[in-house]
Amino acid sequence: MATDRTSLTHLEREKASVFHSWSAQSTINPLMVRDAKGVYVTDEDDKTYLDFSSQLVNVNIGHQHPKVVKAIQDQAALLCTIAPQHGNEARFRAAELILDHAFEGAAKVFFTNGGTESVEHAIRMARLHTGRHKVLSAYRSYHGATATSINLTGDPRRWPSDTGSAGVVHFFGPFLYRSTFHATTEAEERDRALENLERTIQFEGPSSIAAIILETIPGTAGIMVPPAGFLQGVREICDRYGIVYIADEVMSGFGRTGSWFAFEQHDVKPDLVTFAKGVNSGYVPLGGVILNEELSASFNDRAYPGGLTYSGHPLACAAAVAAIEAMEEEGVVENARRIGDDVLRPGLLALAEKHPIIGEVRGLGVFFALDLVVDRATKEPLAPYGASSPAMNEIVAASRREGLLVFNNFNRIHVVPPCTVTEAEAREGLARLDRALAVADHYYVGT
Ligand SMILES: Cc1ncc(COP(=O)(O)O)c(C=O)c1O
Repeated sequence: MATDRTSLTHLEREKASVFHSWSAQSTINPLMVRDAKGVYVTDEDDKTYLDFSSQLVNVNIGHQHPKVVKAIQDQAALLCTIAPQHGNEARFRAAELILDHAFEGAAKVFFTNGGTESVEHAIRMARLHTGRHKVLSAYRSYHGATATSINLTGDPRRWPSDTGSAGVVHFFGPFLYRSTFHATTEAEERDRALENLERTIQFEGPSSIAAIILETIPGTAGIMVPPAGFLQGVREICDRYGIVYIADEVMSGFGRTGSWFAFEQHDVKPDLVTFAKGVNSGYVPLGGVILNEELSASFNDRAYPGGLTYSGHPLACAAAVAAIEAMEEEGVVENARRIGDDVLRPGLLALAEKHPIIGEVRGLGVFFALDLVVDRATKEPLAPYGASSPAMNEIVAASRREGLLVFNNFNRIHVVPPCTVTEAEAREGLARLDRALAVADHYYVGT
């Protein structure tokens, strides 16, 4: 017999029945969202929030874009689902559009349901292609939460699930603000990070390494834009040792950095690209792997040993077609770049003048991080690595009170609105953030 839950609030019902990600279940206090439009989200109490988080940095085209909603409705009326072995127009059109925006020599798309599956399959493809097993990934990275992808992840979320036998080796990538290499310039950081990577490969045994996977710009780990030439250096190292270069563009792809893919701005061509999130702004779950000709040809005459019931799901693919076409027609990617250059970067640097707790402003497009510190001289973070702190909790709570949703992780606040955000909305968000940061100014102990 069904339980009578009518006396409970929606929040109580949510907490009683839904097991939430990454959380101690008794401590959660989810925002009960009723609806959303553009860059605004409205909760069940009718309070409206400016979404400077794009939810999980995925709603690149903004909420409820009418063309994407209509495409899903039209596709639902025509054909909701189809087995992966059949063909379908929504699927091949989505693949064509993705390839058109990828890189010269991008040959095929394998569709998945999201980011982590894309990473799992990209690694499987690289292993089968090279006949090697080991994979290198960076500390300060996030690649997903399933078997191999959580092992690849270079942050504390890996620790409880680390098998220690997944064939993953981590290395430090470039990050000048908190340099592992005692570097003082971007060029030094780049050269030392590349030298360290190559040495790691030599000591691990080049002939055992299938792939290097790198977020083009590490996202969750802190939006560290790599120094000019670093990714080209990685490409050269991969070529030297016959290693597959996988660019994880799950977060940085589809406009977020002011270009379709972030690797474009670094003038490199990966062998495989993993994508998800912004491909259709998460209106229906979708991810995938873009394969270059060589990797794709590897499976021309032998079967690829992998598949998914929902690979290339028509509703998800129709949403991708509509989202990409709308982004082209409406100049959404250009908007992201312009907002970053003209509003967010100068606006955030102005906030740093006012709030000494902002140790560094990093990013581009609609992809910025504030690295918060208690002392600019020591760079001691406002929350320890892998944890939160009263100061961070206060900033996040104050943002909510101000009607602003931000992405926060450890000692960082990420400013990651939809790529469609207008100048006025971006300025309004910065004003709200300014007021929210003020609650933690007194934690600063530096001079
Ligand atoms: C770079 C990167 N890779 C992979 C993933 C995993 O994607 P998903 O959560 O869709 O499985 C994420 C998610 O945030 C990501 O940022």
